[in-house]
Amino acid sequence: METKNKTRAQRNRTLTISDSEIQSLDSLIYNHENLQKDFHDNMIVNGDIHRCLDYVPDEYFDLIILDPPYNLNKDFQTTKFTSMTSDNYTAYLESWFEKVCRKLKKNGTLYMCGDWKCTSNMQMVIEKELTILNRITWQREKGRGAKANWKNSMEDIWFAVKNPHDYCFNVDAVKIKRKVIAPYRSNGKPKDWEETDSGNFRVTYPSNLWDDISIPFWSMPENTDHPTQKPEKLIAKLILASSNPGDKIFDPFLGSGTTAVVAKKLNRKYFGIEINPEYCRWAIKRLKNAEFDKTIQGYHNGVFWERNTPIFSPKHTNYHNSNTNNLFDNI
Ligand SMILES: C[S@@+](CC[C@H](N)C(=O)[O-])C[C@H]1O[C@@H](n2cnc3c(N)ncnc32)[C@H](O)[C@@H]1O
Repeated sequence: METKNKTRAQRNRTLTISDSEIQSLDSLIYNHENLQKDFHDNMIVNGDIHRCLDYVPDEYFDLIILDPPYNLNKDFQTTKFTSMTSDNYTAYLESWFEKVCRKLKKNGTLYMCGDWKCTSNMQMVIEKELTILNRITWQREKGRGAKANWKNSMEDIWFAVKNPHDYCFNVDAVKIKRKVIAPYRSNGKPKDWEETDSGNFRVTYPSNLWDDISIPFWSMPENTDHPTQKPEKLIAKLILASSNPGDKIFDPFLGSGTTAVVAKKLNRKYFGIEINPEYCRWAIKRLKNAEFDKTIQGYHNGVFWERNTPIFSPKHTNYHNSNTNNLFDNI
């Protein structure tokens, strides 16, 4: 399939691929026959999970991130997902979920993303195989307005493990830096917050309500034309909390490659399957870019910054250096 480069506005940083790049990017994509002969780390496989999973080793991955098609009409170009009855959607999830869980190590963790309509089907299917420890709610900014319904501005992320007595959770790696609203002082000194040139901030423990993450949009370098791309910041929280450097991470519905890209930026190993060849190409190009740019927008110096922090605004002087590894190091 040809990559069609659209005409973009000047400040639009959405990923583009020139005709001259296509061949070399495609040479780095595997198919299910390659996979059958030789499974190894850091592969992007273009194929259907139903066909590929048998060639992936069992009990291999520390972390699995699942972002399957939700129960909505959605055009993924190669496949068009059609909204179905609740029972049929449960059967669809069951057609691959048990097999995916087999790929998880005995102390592994799995996250699954969904929306209000499909989340209860997901809960039922996950509970048959794993122990659910929490449900994260991501408050998205964007959502289509509806005249006869509430606008959908949230998604769920189920957090489940194989063994509730043995799993990885690095809470200190996912702290949030928020602007201080009530700057209390004790003996004249800030109480649990810090004063900086950019403002007053407090570093807090993360909860299961995430309101600090925007959907990727055209002025962000991570943006692609994928219709349901997840933000790198969101995936970074999952990876940092539930894996360690060198661990192995699997995304069976890779889309534009976000999980693989963030895994690479955070020094983990990745493995991804995606049915659409063009999305695989985008993933490979993003992985190549990650060789020289390890920046994750909204994550800096080991903490996550809240949404719309002034230093992440295009109006801020540091913003335009955002293709360097040293982004914001002078703050
Ligand atoms: C919700 S999107 C994932 C988006 C991804 N998290 C990202 O950040 O770009 C689901 C993806 O699953 C892919 N897909 C659908 N059915 C599939 C199948 N049977 N095997 C592999 N991939 C599939 C779609 O093409 C789509 O890109």
